[in-house]
Amino acid sequence: MASFPNFLLSLVLLATLLSTPALCYINPSTARPQQNVAEPSAYRSYIVLVEPPRSDAGEDAHRRWHESFLPSLHAGESIESRLLHSYTEVFSGFTARLTKAELHSMAKKPGFMRAFPDRKLQLMTTHTPAFLGLRNGTGFWSEARYGKGVIVGLLDTGIHAAHPSFDDHGIPPPPPRWKGSCKAARCNNKLIGAKSFVEDDSGDEDGHGTHTSSTAAGNFVPGAYHGVGTGTAAGIAPGAHVAMYKVCADNQCDESAILAGLDAATKDGVDVLSISLGENTGTRFDRDPMAIGAFGAVSKGVVVVCAAGNSGPTPASITNDAPWLLTVAAGTVDRSFAAEVRLGNGKSIHGEALTQEAKPRSKLYPLLFSEARRYCEYGDENSVAGKIIVCEATVPEFQMPQVGRIIAAGAAGVVLFNDDISGYTTLLQDYNSTVVQVTAADGAILTSYAASSETRSLAAFNYNNTLLGIHPAPVVSWFSSRGPSFIIPGVLKPDILAPGLNILAAWPPKTDSASGPFNIISGTSMATPHISGVVALLKSIHPSWSPAAIKSAILTTSDMVNSTGGSILDQHHTIASVYDTGAGHVNVTRAADPGLVYDLGITDYAGYICWLLGKDGLATIVRNSSLTCTKLPKIEDVHLNYPTITVPMTSTPFTVNRTVTNVGPAKSTYTAKVDAPKSLVVRVFPKTLTFSKPGEKKTFSVTVSSHIGKELFFEGSLRWVSERHVVRSPIVVAAAAAGRSLVKNIT
Ligand SMILES: *[C@@H]1O[C@H](CO)[C@@H](O)[C@H](O)[C@H]1NC(C)=O
Ligand SMILES: *[C@@H]1O[C@H](CO)[C@@H](O)[C@H](O)[C@H]1NC(C)=O
Ligand SMILES: *[C@@H]1O[C@H](CO)[C@@H](O)[C@H](O)[C@H]1NC(C)=O
Ligand SMILES: *[C@@H]1O[C@H](CO)[C@@H](O)[C@H](O)[C@H]1NC(C)=O
Ligand SMILES: *[C@@H]1O[C@H](CO)[C@@H](O)[C@H](O)[C@H]1NC(C)=O
Ligand SMILES: *[C@@H]1O[C@H](CO)[C@@H](O)[C@H](O)[C@H]1NC(C)=O
Ligand SMILES: *[C@@H]1O[C@H](CO)[C@@H](O)[C@H](O)[C@H]1NC(C)=O
Repeated sequence: MASFPNFLLSLVLLATLLSTPALCYINPSTARPQQNVAEPSAYRSYIVLVEPPRSDAGEDAHRRWHESFLPSLHAGESIESRLLHSYTEVFSGFTARLTKAELHSMAKKPGFMRAFPDRKLQLMTTHTPAFLGLRNGTGFWSEARYGKGVIVGLLDTGIHAAHPSFDDHGIPPPPPRWKGSCKAARCNNKLIGAKSFVEDDSGDEDGHGTHTSSTAAGNFVPGAYHGVGTGTAAGIAPGAHVAMYKVCADNQCDESAILAGLDAATKDGVDVLSISLGENTGTRFDRDPMAIGAFGAVSKGVVVVCAAGNSGPTPASITNDAPWLLTVAAGTVDRSFAAEVRLGNGKSIHGEALTQEAKPRSKLYPLLFSEARRYCEYGDENSVAGKIIVCEATVPEFQMPQVGRIIAAGAAGVVLFNDDISGYTTLLQDYNSTVVQVTAADGAILTSYAASSETRSLAAFNYNNTLLGIHPAPVVSWFSSRGPSFIIPGVLKPDILAPGLNILAAWPPKTDSASGPFNIISGTSMATPHISGVVALLKSIHPSWSPAAIKSAILTTSDMVNSTGGSILDQHHTIASVYDTGAGHVNVTRAADPGLVYDLGITDYAGYICWLLGKDGLATIVRNSSLTCTKLPKIEDVHLNYPTITVPMTSTPFTVNRTVTNVGPAKSTYTAKVDAPKSLVVRVFPKTLTFSKPGEKKTFSVTVSSHIGKELFFEGSLRWVSERHVVRSPIVVAAAAAGRSLVKNIT
């Protein structure tokens, strides 16, 4: 590829950087959503859903229609101070500043449908850090033209446009269908769109948006440097265009701004939307502006990729769980920023450190662990001088100054071990000092060694820089939100697992930290843009595929096992369940050629919405007068033609039908293979599917009988196997899905 000259300076770091998805990153200091307690007379923002204007005569007509709902203005008040956003594309309505009384009288006007108080959502980042098999020269990446011609939109904190990741060398001009505009320090053929829906329209004060954008579609940056190595950095779809919709400021993202971003991105013509934001779990889809706005985008053919949330490992903590979304969980990559803790007894513990020291230190120092100071609550006392202090990790924001004091008091170093909940998930934090982070299991080894009185316990640090090929990987990260979904227990969520721990990607230059131009952060926020990048590559190869077909391709080709065939593990190194991983870990090269896809269209989702929420729900979410619940078949969640299969645990056999579309060789024959535990009996009919032309559809049924016991769920899988393809769907038999009528009752 002449357009990417010499970009592969270091295969090692290229792989390292590539494994970085981004932005449901959880910021510990702002982890809780802000609760608005409004006084009756106080103004607050409401997102107001109205019927579309009678004449669909463009944006001005929409705006006038929206203005007609506003209360009469007080002297000196401008319309702009009341009407904050006017939506036309994915939502019919607006955001306005209103008092409760004004809202009540507005609700009486013809055409008013519903209002939601505007809420603040959080960025999905945990401070964080690829091994997806994309290598220069391998057929797939160049076959997908590195995502050229595809437009990736992001709703995020903005973008540091001057970053070398957004240089446009080798990138063609945007396609003619692009209608967006760009207002940024540097717009070019890479960064083709930048709009702000928050007051601060500067670049990216936070860094999150720069990180996620570069993960999804950052260009090749030779000689990228971070404290832990030098090499070529690149996003998953380095040839794709980027459009940033800034909807967050100060770590908060108003739903009204998110909706404005969704509206603009859909109008502008993005192909993929990457949303590393989330909100509380369990919100009904007709009360969730993000789900409603995303439905509008999906119905225009945009693939919407969202973070699963960082509320794990609590079961049923998933967010962004609507079936039209692609919901991404976060796992580890096979990379370590290695720092060994060598003990006086000859043992060695594998730790990690973002601040690596160049010169080896062979000297052993006494190791100190005090149960009373378990969390590093030391003063300036002399007791720490010349020692290596062992503490349990808490919140980095709190611990940073504590560690600073310990080092200032003359300690030789600090070892922070993970708590039991995070287990093997070491969320790296740059302490800019002699700090090594270790797992909970190694923490137990260290504390007992430190406490052993027989010998004086000693330790030293050895820095090994970036190591690849770390086992086991991938491992589900503790913070990644888990299924099942409260609202849609009959559809497996999350959908897919992608890299989200300790991800290295672009960062704005900052005065308050050593970071930039690259930084390592974590979260389902970081996992999301990896999948958005994969979607961009698939869109480049298969421009006409529906969002559901692209999702199906990614899910049915994913890996349930690691590269040596072992099960994917969780943060405690026990076998991960489907509620941790979704269909499995993304396999980019296989996703491009799935053989068969499970497709779904707007009418299917509409039928599901009729079943779940009735005609009011349909009017709120779908807003298409040619679709009415009286004419649509009501589709239960379990019967959606989803690429994963969930059935309720019932005493009688339960049957679901699925339809697959041939996107592989014209003539092909697939045979059903079922893997299931003994307590499940799964029958597939027919057992063979024979296709004779491309695009041909075949329907089959899956009947599951289960032994009801104490288990909350069982998992197995159905694989359709042909000479060249394996199309795998997990089968989940869930007690929760049997309670789906219960969910209907609470909604
Ligand atoms: C990357 O791959 C392309 C296409 O296979 C090739 O033309 C180019 O020389 C490669 N670049 C490097 C640095 O290996
Ligand atoms: C993806 O699938 C290919 C082909 O089956 C396999 O060789 C590879 O190990 C898988 N995993 C990754 C990360 O590429
Ligand atoms: C780390 O570095 C030390 C000292 O240089 C060396 O003895 C050790 O084998 C290295 N460990 C790994 C895992 O490479
Ligand atoms: C694969 O997983 C098994 C456990 O399921 C683990 O023992 C092994 O180290 C893993 N291999 C890799 C390459 O991660
Ligand atoms: C990191 O530490 C070094 C010396 O220990 C100091 O010079 C530098 O300013 C520190 N950087 C930050 C961002 O604190
Ligand atoms: C409304 O639904 C019909 C039937 O599915 C479809 O053909 C049409 O494109 C939809 N209209 C919009 C605006 O999405
Ligand atoms: C599955 O398909 C069969 C044959 O078309 C039909 O009789 C049955 O009602 C379908 N079952 C469901 C649950 O849709």
